[in-house]
Amino acid sequence: MAEELIIPTTENRAELYESLIPQVKALIHGEPDMVANMANTVAAIKQTFDFFWIGFYVTREDQLVLGPFQGPIACTRIRFDKGVCGASYTEKKTIIVPDVDQFPGHIACSSDSKSEIVVPVIKAGEVKMVLDVDSDKVNDFSEVDQAGLEQIAQLIAETL
Ligand code: SME
Repeated sequence: MAEELIIPTTENRAELYESLIPQVKALIHGEPDMVANMANTVAAIKQTFDFFWIGFYVTREDQLVLGPFQGPIACTRIRFDKGVCGASYTEKKTIIVPDVDQFPGHIACSSDSKSEIVVPVIKAGEVKMVLDVDSDKVNDFSEVDQAGLEQIAQLIAETL
């Protein structure tokens, strides 16, 4: 396993994901423990992009429960019918929220969070967890982030 994350000196997100994704794959390859893999994945995303908050919410019976994350403390439980995470879970798709104040039902764990992307991790047709990334800038996420984070979610799904 790599001991040091390589981060290209560029602001180009597509290039950063291109570098990050194979490294995430190497980080989680051969490690069966879900918590260890989630923890290193959010750390690698944080090191690469320095987003405000990055974390997993894991499906537990009737709600989503906070998993490994990087950033300020956050809400621990989210109902399936609440927030952006609940919407991503229910709709089984990635949701980009350019301005959290405009999303009905958005759960504000921090007033510093301004935009958000939530990607479901799907295995055998079931959402096992969601990957939630928050930015302190409005409109910070695009289809480049969606494509990159969906590939990372797929890597996680393959380890489950
Ligand atoms: N904003 C999320 C809640 C989780 S925090 O952003 C860490 C939501 O609306 O589901």
